Amino acid sequence: DIKTKPKEIELNESYLKITHEKLLSLKKGHKVWRFLEKRGINENTVKEFELGFSSGNEVEKSLDDTLFETKMAVEMGLMNNGKEFFYNRLIIPIKDPKGMIVGFAGRAIDEDTKPKYVNSKENKFFKKSKILYLFDKSKKYIEENDMAIITEGFFDAIAMHNSGYKNTVAVLGSNLTKDHAFELMKKTNKVITMFDMDSAGEKATLSAIDTLFSKNFQIAVANYEAKDPDELIRKTGKKNLAEVLKKSYKFHEYIIDVNKKHYNLDNEFAMEQYLKEMARWYKKFETYKRYEIMDAFITKISKDFLKDKELIEKILREHSK
Ligand code: UTP
Ligand code: MN
Ligand code: MN
Ligand code: MN
Ligand code: MN
Repeated sequence: DIKTKPKEIELNESYLKITHEKLLSLKKGHKVWRFLEKRGINENTVKEFELGFSSGNEVEKSLDDTLFETKMAVEMGLMNNGKEFFYNRLIIPIKDPKGMIVGFAGRAIDEDTKPKYVNSKENKFFKKSKILYLFDKSKKYIEENDMAIITEGFFDAIAMHNSGYKNTVAVLGSNLTKDHAFELMKKTNKVITMFDMDSAGEKATLSAIDTLFSKNFQIAVANYEAKDPDELIRKTGKKNLAEVLKKSYKFHEYIIDVNKKHYNLDNEFAMEQYLKEMARWYKKFETYKRYEIMDAFITKISKDFLKDKELIEKILREHSK
């Protein structure tokens, strides 16, 4: 294959090499290493996931190495207002499915710096809505296991890989899109979603279910007692993680339960809204001819509310007119 690599990608590669070496050259007492230590990330993990650190002159060095002009560093979002964009941040490389470095994220290394993460500017190589973090590494394991685990954040995906779940990707805080689904579909049609256990994570889960269901995925939803997978693993370890994954929710049961919580069913109006939402899903299952799910769905609702299945079915049909 004699196709030449785009110059922009070469610049990114050079920037990664230089920031990675920078991080490895720093003493373990340096604030970035103290940050990593606090998060349970050691030197081996830094090497495996090619993490870096920007101390302020790494873009310049990259330009010297690659003999490119400053203009390109600005275009690629490595430089901004004449300064290093990722200055004083942990650098996380973001790769496309083939392993090309298309962008970076920079994580603040103290809790006061806002925003917590910054990303490379979107460009023709880097589209956040298309990239699944670590897909380049995980795709072969996703295929082998015939299953993908989907998380929200960088450290969630890294912690999952370190715990042996190398079939894990992250959507980088955005919603799971159709493009993400198409990428996953090349390797499997089974997923476990493992988003954060806060309201943003719940919304993201329902939205992911919506998208994945339409693409005929089998979906389970992990439910656990921690903020996110990274925290879960640090707090309770691998053995508990295996339990959590084993006990994942069936997605239609998740829809019923999480909405019960959201609609706060203490009055008739809320109940109406809730049933309307359930009816919307019921209709969607029917559109896709998933009759077994329709049946399981009304079975659970009828048990939850101590009503006949026939009655629940009637109510859902009326609400979806
Ligand atoms: P979270 O807010 O859940 O962050 O956002 P996190 O992954 O738990 O971060 P840590 O553990 O505190 O380091 C989930 C993901 O959303 C994106 C990042 O990809 C993050 O991993 N995000 C979040 C941003 O792009 N910018 C932000 O300011 C925050
Ligand atoms: Mn996280
Ligand atoms: Mn989150
Ligand atoms: Mn999180
Ligand atoms: Mn986190």
